Amino acid sequence: MSKNDIYRIGYIYFREIEKKDIEILRRMHNDPTTLSMLTDPTYITKNMQLNWFKSLHKSNKSKRYSLCTNSDGKKTLLGMIRFDQIDHLNKNMMVGLDIIPALRGKGFGKMGYYLILNYCFNELKMHKVTLYTAAYNDIAKSLYNKLGFKVEGLLKEHLIKGDKYSDLIVMSLFRRDFLKNDS
Ligand SMILES: CC(C)(COP(=O)(O)OP(=O)(O)OC[C@H]1O[C@@H](n2cnc3c(N)ncnc32)[C@H](O)[C@@H]1OP(=O)(O)O)[C@@H](O)C(=O)NCCC(=O)NCCS
Repeated sequence: MSKNDIYRIGYIYFREIEKKDIEILRRMHNDPTTLSMLTDPTYITKNMQLNWFKSLHKSNKSKRYSLCTNSDGKKTLLGMIRFDQIDHLNKNMMVGLDIIPALRGKGFGKMGYYLILNYCFNELKMHKVTLYTAAYNDIAKSLYNKLGFKVEGLLKEHLIKGDKYSDLIVMSLFRRDFLKNDS
């Protein structure tokens, strides 16, 4: 483990975001295939990204980390992990993950979530992990279903997609179900 590493399982790990990551993460965020799936599709300039980087450690309730792998001895940045509304009293939190466009469809999303969920339930001892997804994000919904997330509800017409409103789906996974599936 190097000093910025937070959590690792085998070759996949997440660490603090480093300055060398931020332009790659900015491009990932601004790619239309990512922006169209986010609840806040704001285009990020270099200056905005630098200010965001400087503010990263200000909140205890929100965290951003770089998801990486070092298989074959080569370190590769895979994407960015989002933790929000971290609530240690009620033992729940929100999670999110975006994978760099060129690296999608290769299993890194699934592996990334395996890492995230192990961290949330086994390290942070959370009771429940929640995420939001746009109703039209079929790839993400398929992934979350495979991970055991269940639809908890939906926020109707919560997002603007083109000239239409779209629903935002709320999905959750409980600790007991994660541990049952993971054993
Ligand atoms: C959603 C996302 C994180 C998934 O990561 P990924 O690395 O592409 O996904 P994986 O390769 O691990 O695939 C996981 C599952 O997703 C689904 N999936 C992945 N690519 C798919 C595709 N092209 N078509 C349909 N389903 C697909 C499958 O269910 C797959 O499981 P399988 O391999 O058993 O078939 C990634 O595509 C991404 O960053 N998308 C853009 C931003 C985004 O949507 N973020 C989430 C916001 S809620």
